[in-house]
Amino acid sequence: MTTTIRVSPKGAARWTEGHPWIYRTDVLGETEAPGVVHVEDRRGKFLGQALWSPKSEIRLRLLEPTKRKIDAEWWRERISACLARRMGIDSNAYRVVHGEGDGLPSLVVDRYDRWAVVQLLSAGLETMRAEILAALVDVLKPEGILLRNDASVRKHEGLPEGIELVHGAVPESIEVREGAVRFLAAPWSGQKTGAFLDQRDNRAIAGALTRPGGTALDCFAYHGSFAMHLARRAGRVTAVDQSKEALVRGTENAVLNGLANIDWVEADAFELVRSWERAGRKFDTIVVDPPAFAKSKSAVAGALRGYHEINLRAMKLLSPGGTLVTASCSFHVRLPMFLEMLSGAASDSGRRLTLARILGQGQDHPEIVTVPETGYLKGAVLVAQ
Ligand SMILES: C[S@@+](CC[C@H](N)C(=O)[O-])C[C@H]1O[C@@H](n2cnc3c(N)ncnc32)[C@H](O)[C@@H]1O
Repeated sequence: MTTTIRVSPKGAARWTEGHPWIYRTDVLGETEAPGVVHVEDRRGKFLGQALWSPKSEIRLRLLEPTKRKIDAEWWRERISACLARRMGIDSNAYRVVHGEGDGLPSLVVDRYDRWAVVQLLSAGLETMRAEILAALVDVLKPEGILLRNDASVRKHEGLPEGIELVHGAVPESIEVREGAVRFLAAPWSGQKTGAFLDQRDNRAIAGALTRPGGTALDCFAYHGSFAMHLARRAGRVTAVDQSKEALVRGTENAVLNGLANIDWVEADAFELVRSWERAGRKFDTIVVDPPAFAKSKSAVAGALRGYHEINLRAMKLLSPGGTLVTASCSFHVRLPMFLEMLSGAASDSGRRLTLARILGQGQDHPEIVTVPETGYLKGAVLVAQ
């Protein structure tokens, strides 16, 4: 029998306002076992079915507004609908399910060519594992499915972290295509699920804005996904990252694309750009795509100082007419804060910069207007006069 959970008027209002989460403090009764539950208001009116996480501050995540059974067929329909929303993406590597952004809270599914990498990020969702995997096999027909459940958010759910092969076989590295560029994703060992898929559109934009024959810099390059788009037009590209492993894959990626004009530099990007600024070095195109500096709200002030510092240096390194493509993937640094930070850095740099474009995450990472947590990646294209 399905468990029923009642919620306070404030909890119920979350759903009517378009947000799928109801917090611990708005739940009127508890149950120990995670799973799919029916949710009612204080007076017993049915509100919907949700994933129940007994240990998380986010106790309920809305799945379905009716009483329809949530089985493998339900998941098949939902995942097929997600797939339909990805039509037209110019790549065989993309996010098939972006959790709350696709109405499937705490589920992440990334496709890398013929393989899928999955994250089950809540205790309630974990109980649906068999149905979800069955649906994924039916809809995606993958040669293998890897669970990258090594995400730290699982701790808040009382779930173990780990990596597990749950269907077929998944290779150590998968060659994928993104527009005209090919790269090797690392599903078992790479950051996130093996690549940063959310920047696909911005990489194409950066590539198109690269000065032909000029110099380009990819700061925080990882395995060079931006660098390769830049290298197709630039004369020389410098790709900087502190991860040796990522840079090794970067060199392999360059070979894969027949690009011999990328210099891979293992260094702290902050130190390097400071020294280059002192040396008067200039670049025509610069990409700044650092890791999330603010992992929590309390870290925002420090993170903004970090973003200011790296962007200030990058602005100073721009040659006249040069283009800076800059991004932040910190959810807690919202777009207005990011733009304000850029304004401060521009003013300190003494450069006059045009705000040419505001950037976001790709079509496969849908950002729901009423669910701010679905949007974390923001960026801008600035052009020096
Ligand atoms: C958001 S990822 C970059 C993703 C990449 N631009 C892409 O599109 O695939 C951030 C990268 O910054 C690197 N990193 C973190 N701190 C760094 C630092 N201080 N200096 C250089 N690289 C750093 C990480 O190793 C990681 O590869």
